[in-house]
Amino acid sequence: MPGIALDTKHDESRQGEAFAPKKAVTNPFTKKFYIESYGCAMNFADSEVIASILQKENFEITTQFEEADMIFINTCSIREKAETTVRKRLTEFRQMKKHNPGLLVGVLGCMAERLKSKFLEEEKLVDIVVGPDAYRSLPSLIEEAESGQKGVNVLLSREETYGDISPIRLNSNGVTAFVSIMRGCNNMCSFCVVPFTRGRERSRDAESVVRECTDLFEQGFREVTLLGQNVDSYQWVKNSDNLIISFANLLEKVAQISPLLRVRFSTSHPKDITDEVLFTMKKYDNICKYIHLPVQSGSSKILQMMNRTYTREWYISKVNRIREILPGCGLSTDSISGFCGETEEDHKETLSLFEYCEYDLAYMYFYSERPGTLAERRFKDDVPLEVKKRRLQEIVALHRIHSLKSMERDLDKTFKVLIEGNSRKSDEHWAGRTDHNKVVVFPKTGDLNKGDYVDVLIEECTAGTLIGRVK
Ligand code: SAM
Ligand code: SF4
Ligand code: F3S
Repeated sequence: MPGIALDTKHDESRQGEAFAPKKAVTNPFTKKFYIESYGCAMNFADSEVIASILQKENFEITTQFEEADMIFINTCSIREKAETTVRKRLTEFRQMKKHNPGLLVGVLGCMAERLKSKFLEEEKLVDIVVGPDAYRSLPSLIEEAESGQKGVNVLLSREETYGDISPIRLNSNGVTAFVSIMRGCNNMCSFCVVPFTRGRERSRDAESVVRECTDLFEQGFREVTLLGQNVDSYQWVKNSDNLIISFANLLEKVAQISPLLRVRFSTSHPKDITDEVLFTMKKYDNICKYIHLPVQSGSSKILQMMNRTYTREWYISKVNRIREILPGCGLSTDSISGFCGETEEDHKETLSLFEYCEYDLAYMYFYSERPGTLAERRFKDDVPLEVKKRRLQEIVALHRIHSLKSMERDLDKTFKVLIEGNSRKSDEHWAGRTDHNKVVVFPKTGDLNKGDYVDVLIEECTAGTLIGRVK
């Protein structure tokens, strides 16, 4: 069990989703590609960019890997388990290649970047290896691979944002969409592989972000989630008038597209989140009052070793500020148990911080040492696996109490819910989310559709779902 997440929306351990095209165009002469994605929302958003690049070259997407001429896996390296899962999947695709020698198999994303050409040597039957900043070269690498060469491009860029590419919305509910606003990360959290797999941080042209969100709204989408590893450090300079656009400015511009467009964002960094962002959230009803603020550990000693550049006290002051400016704001977090040198005392500090914050949602993991990171070079991974797992379980158990409490607080209250589609369990029920990002399920009544807002009275709840009826 690598980590436990009690929700799927921002879960970077999402595994192996194949994308379904909205409209299937079939032409027997066109080459078909299949893409399976792992990892965080940014990786899933990247797969939509990749699909757009390939469709422009007249390749056709398929959801059936059995009928594909090319299979791509967009991979994640965040924890060892993520890589093991991909390797297993590759073994299956390799088997297929034995029966279909013309089939091309490509590894994309963070694992491609981390392992580079080693991938071609180790995993003999991979034909294409492409890192996160090199997707534009995919069509030419496919050509190279078709002519029997190995297609590799793992160059990282300081500029690439794919800002001009309109992602193809795949596997989409037609209501909610991810929009990348930046790439890479300049922080050097000692446990984290992302700065190595995704390179330096760069912000996307604000005008292209607003354009993409406006297009989505015009197509009927009603919620956008602005994505970056550290959205608070977003900064884009408009050269024509030397204007600096901060994250708060961008948030405001997107919120102004329409009051009917909900705006979310992820991830905020405790060291960088500003009052300006909080006041912008307060100013606009359509900016969802929900913040994902990963803490990682409640111990200042561990936070320092993690190079998070804040202390426990700083984090608490940020949570207090959020609650002061935005009373009732939803709050979620990420935590890592059993980082190098973590004592029972440090672990207790994480538990007491969870107690203080009472998160609505948490993604909880145990530490997985990643090759090449600062922690791997500097510290000993000295907490035994069973201790890491036991500490993780203690955090999970405590968080369960808080998340249930948070759901129970909503009983007998009415919330504006954005309908995202049928509930997973029955097409007689709608499923949607509240402003605070809680899933709500309720029986279908009257003339409602996906993408509508509706007031729902909450009558029951489980740890993950609110159950109600239209008011
Ligand atoms: N940029 C975000 C931030 O600063 O919090 C999150 C990035 S990472 C994709 C998502 C989460 O994975 C992290 O917040 C952390 O809890 C977890 N994570 C990252 N590296 C890890 C590791 N080596 N072992 C276990 N969990 C890890
Ligand atoms: Fe990794 Fe830290 Fe960057 Fe988040 S902020 S992606 S944890 S280095
Ligand atoms: Fe995301 Fe995994 Fe890469 S979490 S940034 S896909 S290492």
